[in-house]
Amino acid sequence: MKNLFLALACAFLAYNAKAQEKEFLLIPQPSHLVVGTASVKINALTNMVLPKEKEHQPLVEHFREQLSAILNADIKTTTSNRTKSSISFYVKKDLAKEAYHLDITKNNVSISASDPSGWFYGWQTFIQLLRLKLENGKEPILKEVSIKDEPKFGWRGLMLDVSRHFFNKDVIKRYIDQMAKYKFNVLHLHLTDNQGWRLEIKQLPKLTSVGAWRVPRTGYWSGMPAPEPGEKASYGGYYSQEDIKELVAYAKQRFVDIVPEIDLPGHSLAFVASYPEISCTKTPQQVLAGDPWNPKRTNVVCVGNDSTYTKIDQIITEIAAIFPSKYIHIGGDEVTRNYWSNCSVCQNRIAKEGLRNVDELQSYFVNQVAKIVLEKGKTPIGWYETLEKGLDSNIVQMSWKDEKGAIKSSNEGKKVILTPAFLTYLDFYQGDPYLENAPFTVNRLSNSYKFDPLPAGINVQNVIGGQGSLWTEQVPNERKLQFMTWPRGFTLSENLWSKAPKLSWTDFSKKIEAHLPILTADSTNFSNYFYDAIISAKKGQNDEVVLNIDTEIPGLTVYYSFDDTDPDQFYPKYGGAALAIPKGAKTIRAVSYKGSVPKSRIVRLPIAELKRRAKL
Ligand code: ACM
Ligand code: ZN
Repeated sequence: MKNLFLALACAFLAYNAKAQEKEFLLIPQPSHLVVGTASVKINALTNMVLPKEKEHQPLVEHFREQLSAILNADIKTTTSNRTKSSISFYVKKDLAKEAYHLDITKNNVSISASDPSGWFYGWQTFIQLLRLKLENGKEPILKEVSIKDEPKFGWRGLMLDVSRHFFNKDVIKRYIDQMAKYKFNVLHLHLTDNQGWRLEIKQLPKLTSVGAWRVPRTGYWSGMPAPEPGEKASYGGYYSQEDIKELVAYAKQRFVDIVPEIDLPGHSLAFVASYPEISCTKTPQQVLAGDPWNPKRTNVVCVGNDSTYTKIDQIITEIAAIFPSKYIHIGGDEVTRNYWSNCSVCQNRIAKEGLRNVDELQSYFVNQVAKIVLEKGKTPIGWYETLEKGLDSNIVQMSWKDEKGAIKSSNEGKKVILTPAFLTYLDFYQGDPYLENAPFTVNRLSNSYKFDPLPAGINVQNVIGGQGSLWTEQVPNERKLQFMTWPRGFTLSENLWSKAPKLSWTDFSKKIEAHLPILTADSTNFSNYFYDAIISAKKGQNDEVVLNIDTEIPGLTVYYSFDDTDPDQFYPKYGGAALAIPKGAKTIRAVSYKGSVPKSRIVRLPIAELKRRAKL
């Protein structure tokens, strides 16, 4: 009996600890979190103790400014360790890089780490706890807590395609600010593609005088009208080397590494338009506004030509000098090899190198470029593509089509970074395809939470980390950039940082909701399509279409109409059973509510579209 009582008491305590952990709503969830009993008034903290090491003082000064702004108070710095009501930073040598301990006690807050990155992440956690209260309309009062935390992966990235649309350095800085709050540490910049070359290379000025500009076009990416004769290429832009140095320094202060990507040998129309002599056809080209898959456009470099390698060496030399990152990404995806089949120079290279075909020529090329990167003291990264002859093992594989590439490469001893498209691509739309103007396919918020950077069969030792990837064909401005990133960025942050047991989707969705007011306060746009009613259609027993309605998160009520009027909470409530379509109905409209508060947009779908989906 006594044992049973003890077991029940332990179970209750464990349950209670779990419940309290969840109550903290942190994203990402720390590895260990122990909650105390006292309440701590954060606005009663008046001092920040500067670390002894002079070089770390600006960081703490930056923290002080941030906290003063958040609390609307004048927090002071001090060098005395003995003050009460203070926030202090300690060195704890045995902690791993980026790890931290955060202790909030009745009188003091302390953050310990072995290096400043750990202080930075401990600080992000502290600020998040505070803002979760403030931005949700509560007092700045926190529970006593002791947090021990460290990241699961060293590469917690977001990729931004700045070629399809150019985003100036202020946009990039704001993007980095948001990344850092959720403990991302890599910004992978996709700097070149068919739609623009975005980096100044001093030895090859035409890359930016020609390659950074295209004719202005608005609207859907596929089938954009071609340039008219004599039309000025006026849309675009690029980062000067000074801009890059500024961005790198800005990112460094936020412990974000900027990794540059030059996409070769495909996706290279901007390169070829700047220097037509490096293509197989050598014909003049123009940088594209839209869809590249016009067979007349040579978007691939000639890999038989020595001068191609000379130019690539010049490019990589300059990149290596301005980006301190250990990595340079050299692309390698989606190459149309038929130009090489019809090019005598490429065919000569195949013969000279003893290769069998253009597939092996691609491997040869990627390996050559990787050698150039290695010569500059950097580590090459390539998009994982299935290549006949394989790639050198010192090329880090960025696996994107699915997880199989990462599983295979990791077991062959290659380092891998995972960005499986169907789980982590941020260009994929977040709601019903009928209502989106986004290419490709869907990656709803709840789906993105399923991303596991360590899928079954992977060699864990070789996983560097993972990332979300935002291609910007349909992302023409900063608001859309933010809209595509958040809140899916939360699921990525959780999956890439947190070592704690993974929460259920229901529990994690509650955290997401608690963080939305923080995004709003930061003027960061986000998608709320995860509140949408999801309408699905299938064939009924008598070959009629029947509809079902679902929602991504629990706790929502859906109201609907078939009479072409917009529903609200006084309309029929969806009760879970399949709906028959009334005779004559042209559309279904549905809206979700939480209690009496409307949460979603009105999803309006034509019955004809639903019949098509039900294959009727
Ligand atoms: C890719 O999505 N082509 C890497
Ligand atoms: Zn060629």
